[in-house]
Amino acid sequence: MSEKENIIEMKEVYKAFGNKFVHKGINLSVREGETLTILGGSGGGKSVMLKQINGLLKPDSGSVEVMNKNVCSMNDEELTEVRKDIGMLFQGAALFDSLTVAENIAYPLIENSDLPEDEIKEIIATNLEMIGLPGIEDRYPNDLSGGMKKRVGLARAMATHPKILLYDEPTTGLDPPNISRINELIKTMRDKFGITGVIITHDLQSAYEISDRIAFLHDGKIVFTGTVEETWMNEIEEFRDFIEGKLENQKD
Ligand SMILES: Nc1ncnc2c1ncn2[C@@H]1O[C@H](COP(=O)(O)OP(=O)(O)OP(=O)(O)O)[C@@H](O)[C@H]1O
Ligand SMILES: [Mg+2]
Repeated sequence: MSEKENIIEMKEVYKAFGNKFVHKGINLSVREGETLTILGGSGGGKSVMLKQINGLLKPDSGSVEVMNKNVCSMNDEELTEVRKDIGMLFQGAALFDSLTVAENIAYPLIENSDLPEDEIKEIIATNLEMIGLPGIEDRYPNDLSGGMKKRVGLARAMATHPKILLYDEPTTGLDPPNISRINELIKTMRDKFGITGVIITHDLQSAYEISDRIAFLHDGKIVFTGTVEETWMNEIEEFRDFIEGKLENQKD
């Protein structure tokens, strides 16, 4: 795959729940190795986009290609295979409540690799250290705060070093030191491991800090894609209103 090739490609994606259209012709290309952030209003269909990328939800029409393969037409076996290359941090972290932190992080490693137990243990310890929560292997998700769960979800998503990482609101609910820590980790995933990142966030400051490109989802379509600088200079009325509204809110 050449450097500039698109690793994810959504073409003319339509999706309705009941009679409400959430996606009305989404087109989005993500380049291999870049970090792309999707911005947009609440309930606009951002999380649904990530779920379509890893095949958890299927569009009504249009196509979603990951590494040149259409995930919409894959059977379960093919989906399992492609998901080995896709790590996902879910909006609510989505940890298994009946498993310990260590077992949660080990889960994708056991599913996707033949690593020996001691190596898995080491990866778990290293990843917990990276998210700033060393030594919590034996705790259960219910004993953790929302922010801690989110960070464990991130450790689980990163553990296999997938080709693509999908992050649904990685910094929401975290305090400033942890926001910086997570943003640094996202940058490390790109710079050190060459992982392509797709991020959803409501945190503009983080978006500016970590993104190579930003996309704006509005009324079921991606109406803007560009660099951070292009975002600052964009003259799309809806996007300007969105950004200025957010900046207003963040002052409070
Ligand atoms: N599985 C589902 N079944 C029915 N409706 C759904 C489903 N998933 C999402 N929706 C609806 O689709 C719309 C878009 O949801 P989505 O979660 O993608 O929004 P979002 O942009 O991620 O919002 P937020 O910023 O609040 O997380 C919402 O109206 C939601 O209720
Ligand atoms: Mg969402």
